[in-house]
Amino acid sequence: MKVAIGCDHAGVGLKRRLLDSVLKGYEVIDMGTDSTDSVDYPDIAHKVANAVASGKAEQGILICGTGIGMAMAAGKTKGIRAAACTEPYSAELSRRHNDANILCLGARVIGTGMAEKIVEKWFSTPFDGGRHTRRIGKIESL
Ligand code: RB5
Repeated sequence: MKVAIGCDHAGVGLKRRLLDSVLKGYEVIDMGTDSTDSVDYPDIAHKVANAVASGKAEQGILICGTGIGMAMAAGKTKGIRAAACTEPYSAELSRRHNDANILCLGARVIGTGMAEKIVEKWFSTPFDGGRHTRRIGKIESL
């Protein structure tokens, strides 16, 4: 599984923690940022969204202060279904029902332990298919 990951200055600490824990064992493409110097989250979201939409990575993770700006920006790219999740149940349903391909996390909203649980649940949950395939098709045609 190839995973593209990116963060802004607010998410760099959480990104480093996840790379050292739950993301060990995955083939990760780290698309920055690498410091706490201020950057604009849409620039990073665009890079990760393109990596996933083009097939360079199968799934993506984006981290900012809330996860919300990253989800908004990533969702502008065709084929991207980005979900901002603050707990594992939403992460599970974003995979089962929405076939989310980018997980967005808020480093100022959740702790490291919760983030790890969310990532584990997200990666271990497949898409349910069935009626949800039709609905995703409708999202794509919007
Ligand atoms: C940066 O201060 C902050 O706005 C950003 O990390 C994010 O929370 C945006 O949604």
